[in-house]
Amino acid sequence: MSRISTSSGPGELLVELRRDTGVPLHQQLESGIRTRIRAGLLRADTVMPSTRALAQDLGLSRGVVVEAYQQLVAEGYLVSRGGGYTQVADIAVVEPSAVKPSPSGPPRIDFRYSRPDVSQFPRAAWLRSIRQVLNETPYRSLAYLDGRGTIELRTALADYLNRVRGTAARPENMLICNGFAQGSRLLLQVLAAQGYRRLAVEDPSDNDLRDVAAAAGLEAVGVPVLQSGIDVDALERSGADVVLVTAAHQFPTGAVASAETRAALVAWAARGDRLVFEDDYDAEYRYDREPIGAMQGLAPDRVAYAGTASKTLAPGLRLGWLILPARLVEPMSQAKLMDDRGSPVFDQLAFADFVARGEFDRHLRRMRPRYRLLRDTLVHRLAARLPEFEPVGVSAGLHVMALLPPDLAEEPLQAAALERGLGVYGLAPYWVSAPGPAGLVFGYGSLTPKEVVEGIDLLADVIGTLRDV
Ligand SMILES: Cc1ncc(COP(=O)(O)O)c(C=O)c1O
Repeated sequence: MSRISTSSGPGELLVELRRDTGVPLHQQLESGIRTRIRAGLLRADTVMPSTRALAQDLGLSRGVVVEAYQQLVAEGYLVSRGGGYTQVADIAVVEPSAVKPSPSGPPRIDFRYSRPDVSQFPRAAWLRSIRQVLNETPYRSLAYLDGRGTIELRTALADYLNRVRGTAARPENMLICNGFAQGSRLLLQVLAAQGYRRLAVEDPSDNDLRDVAAAAGLEAVGVPVLQSGIDVDALERSGADVVLVTAAHQFPTGAVASAETRAALVAWAARGDRLVFEDDYDAEYRYDREPIGAMQGLAPDRVAYAGTASKTLAPGLRLGWLILPARLVEPMSQAKLMDDRGSPVFDQLAFADFVARGEFDRHLRRMRPRYRLLRDTLVHRLAARLPEFEPVGVSAGLHVMALLPPDLAEEPLQAAALERGLGVYGLAPYWVSAPGPAGLVFGYGSLTPKEVVEGIDLLADVIGTLRDV
């Protein structure tokens, strides 16, 4: 089989020809071009390669190509233009069976969680950092990377995290990854390979990681979250050897792990070869007081720490980082190299420059009052319009969880709200061991204060209508 991509002439053309089938070559050429036009892969007005160039690239006589083009012109797939060139004709193409658009479209006001206000992305400062690194990075830095990521970013982040989150990070123990998603997946794979068997997750908690754990061969078990953080006695009874906690701001309840819980978690990890995996996903956003320091600083050998730029800058950056106990650094570095050979180098270097110049701090200082205003607006409007809702959790982050009054169930409420163009989201997916109380998680990061007010007013209307029927 010859499978040749020709780039001669104004257009590029990939054609598959088999010389062992007995099917004449001009027919194969015709059918290859026809199929691609019908599928919309060769679009109307695309200029075809000249017959001479195509014949040369495919190792055919020019007559074979001329014959194929003539046939396709006769069939209306190609048009022969003056000046001796040929173009794809404008015919109705068969659209591939693709993703069907959703019938209702996105909600007009959407309280979906996990969306920071990306419209505030600090473009000018980021551009300065990109320019800087493009100008100054030596060529040798563009070679394959250390599995842990660039030393520049590991150093900048270690300094930042030690200063702001109270961690005990050293650049040697840090690993740059594509967000928490990749960091957590690799860590669970490495732990499973080292003989870890059971992962405890907070109940309720984000559900993504449970599937990741199962794929890695770890059993996930839910452990209840109290107002003071995860229930460490229940953790002890669970038989887990690794636990994932969102200690600074529990997702979704918004609880903060107390000093006692943190100490008990560290003590739990120290009994046996256990590990605490700390997901510090939005700790930079604490509005009523300074955030509590990360657990990693208490026990660097017992805690693996994960951070992400997804809440602070933008999820599309796919920049995340881990601080690892020494024994996990090498296997994780290998796992990262096996997975993707490292995160893109200019992104890492630009972020390093951005952090080292103090732009990250500046951005957070600018965003904190905005998010705080959104949260306050949401909580006050709930109190005014839906006083029977019960917001829980501390003043922090980009979401508020509220428990529903007993006469309301999540699903009908979500469906009725969606009919009115309002996106609200229940707690059901987050419960691990058994269904818990009904509630909603309001993400407000990407809304304006006006939209928050409108959204809660609309929700109050929807509930009024549901109660009337
Ligand atoms: C609990 C939690 N951790 C971490 C993340 C960040 O994930 P990533 O860094 O892969 O974007 C999220 C994002 O929504 C989250 O909800």
